[in-house]
Amino acid sequence: MIAIEQLAYTYPDGTRALDGIDLRVGKGESLCIAGSNGAGKSTLVNHLNGWLLPQEGAVRIGELQVNKKAVEEIRKMVGLVFQKPDDQLFMARVWDDVMFGPANLGMDEAKIRAEAERLLRIFGLWELHDKPPAHLSQGQKRFAAIATVLVMQPQVLVMDEPTSDLDPRNRRKLIELVNKLPMTRITVSHDLDFIWDTCERVCILSKGKMVADGPTKKLLSNQQLLEANGLELPLRLQA
Ligand SMILES: Nc1ncnc2c1ncn2[C@@H]1O[C@H](COP(=O)(O)OP(=O)(O)OP(=O)(O)O)[C@@H](O)[C@H]1O
Ligand SMILES: [Mg+2]
Repeated sequence: MIAIEQLAYTYPDGTRALDGIDLRVGKGESLCIAGSNGAGKSTLVNHLNGWLLPQEGAVRIGELQVNKKAVEEIRKMVGLVFQKPDDQLFMARVWDDVMFGPANLGMDEAKIRAEAERLLRIFGLWELHDKPPAHLSQGQKRFAAIATVLVMQPQVLVMDEPTSDLDPRNRRKLIELVNKLPMTRITVSHDLDFIWDTCERVCILSKGKMVADGPTKKLLSNQQLLEANGLELPLRLQA
């Protein structure tokens, strides 16, 4: 479903954020990208829907190469929930934000309305659907941002730090929801307990390079590997 080959990315100020990344993800897999602050996780996932375009190397989604020409098609396939909800929410009302993506893709509005309402109800946002997104609390914004992407039912769902700002009960709600989703999932998270519960495979990034790739329970219980890469054991494994 996803093939990344020798991907490298340098920001205009000279920061080399990605340095020769290779990664393949199969259809239906649930993969986590872990790594300390500044490791390059957001830079990597921002390539998956063409928000960033490869400078060196290549990214392929299904049969499509990620490049300027294919961006529109790629965004129909890949839904990206940004690390900062404010990057995702820009309309006058929560409802408009949730309906914006599907309308843009030309999806059937009647069907989408029902799905949008269902998601907003799950996320406890239905009563707030007329509010400006700027007036939501942080956790409410996080859920609204996730709803704007889920409503498009993408083949690949990419979420960058989906649990930050969520209270424990809402975090639990998100675990239950994502575990029922059929699509290929890529999750960036520092919440390794969330990853333990929702992803079958973990990749660890460090300084723009991929340093480990394997089954979640094996990697996340390897204290030495985690500490060498600026990470800590999931809370459930800490004595
Ligand atoms: N717009 C930018 N201009 C210059 N450097 C940037 C820019 N965005 C990110 N960087 C740098 O690129 C590197 C990777 O950043 P990135 O945001 O991908 O890290 P991350 O792994 O997502 O970190 P975090 O866990 O803090 O979200 C960092 O060193 C960061 O300072
Ligand atoms: Mg990030």
